[in-house]
Amino acid sequence: MQKNVIGYGSIFHKEDTTHIKNISNTTFIGEHELFYAGRYAIKHVIYCILEYKNINQIWLPNYYCPYVKNWLEQEFNTIKYYDIDPFDVADTIDWSLFSPNDLVIANNYWGVKENKIPNGDRPIVIEDHSHGWLSKGCIESKADFCIASLRKTLPVPLGGIAWKPEMGTCKIPLKPLKNAGLNAEINPMHLSWDIIDNAMKTKATCTNNEEKIAFLLGYSQGETLLRNTQEIVPLLAKHEADIRKNLFKDFNTYKIANLTFILKTLEPSQTFKVIIGNNKFPFGLLIAFKDWELFTNFKQFLITNMIYPAELWPQNRIAQEYKFLLNIHIDFRYNEADLEYISKTINQWTLQQSYINTEQEL
Ligand SMILES: Cc1ncc(COP(=O)(O)O)c(C=O)c1O
Repeated sequence: MQKNVIGYGSIFHKEDTTHIKNISNTTFIGEHELFYAGRYAIKHVIYCILEYKNINQIWLPNYYCPYVKNWLEQEFNTIKYYDIDPFDVADTIDWSLFSPNDLVIANNYWGVKENKIPNGDRPIVIEDHSHGWLSKGCIESKADFCIASLRKTLPVPLGGIAWKPEMGTCKIPLKPLKNAGLNAEINPMHLSWDIIDNAMKTKATCTNNEEKIAFLLGYSQGETLLRNTQEIVPLLAKHEADIRKNLFKDFNTYKIANLTFILKTLEPSQTFKVIIGNNKFPFGLLIAFKDWELFTNFKQFLITNMIYPAELWPQNRIAQEYKFLLNIHIDFRYNEADLEYISKTINQWTLQQSYINTEQEL
């Protein structure tokens, strides 16, 4: 693999993970089901709930993945949005907004927020741990149901999970998935898995720009199939085995070590803030901005230097002070030399920016 061609970030490449140990506590999960993606896990859980209870409104956080918002809006016509500041670790959900006949999706925002579920009459709560799989909030969740998109943490082409946390008290069962009866050969999820799997293999061996374009194209074709498929397709046994092999791997230990390393070398900035969380480990190096122009300038600077951050998420306009977030990947793929490169590049932008600011003040 050549980092000077593929750069840093974006999708995982195919990599052997047998050397990565499992976490010790895997019993928090209780009943669970695996899926091709996180959105199917959400949909499945909502239909399980609807079989037992009439729901007035389904509430999603305002600041949330726009593709999932759109996808869920195609499926359910009772969706409403509530406000929460994703960039203030201390800000919590205002539960007084909801009735006991509502359903609330709470996000753990990159593993740094902990949602306290109220006692007494309250809505059903589904917690989304897509960017905090195996974080403290995920393992200690007391929500009625939890879900996660696994492909954001595990190096697998696709993957999602729904579970009933052992510490929850909800009596509604999580039903096993029914076979959708789609023709195996034209099944869009099998196709999407194969296309992304190939893209990951191409990325792992990529030595030139043409191959780089090929893996990026493959990945976006696989992603389009997801966006256009509403039906929940059960996993093929071989795909399930690939996900299960990686399900409890302790990928977070690498993130903690890498974040600790990089934070020691980052120059302080007047322009952005790094979101860390109290005694928690975030999804990656999370950099939040107030200003759209500075945000896009920074993003472009990183891309020019072959660092490909994830924008989490576009198309969200919120009233809070900080509004835009980039995640710079610092997972198990990276060694100290990579982290030094990432840090040096960010510092270069910070210094350039403070120079521009000084010039303007003179
Ligand atoms: C917070 C969050 N939840 C759920 C999902 C859905 O996951 P998937 O893409 O695996 O369907 C995503 C991303 O796409 C996400 O960002």
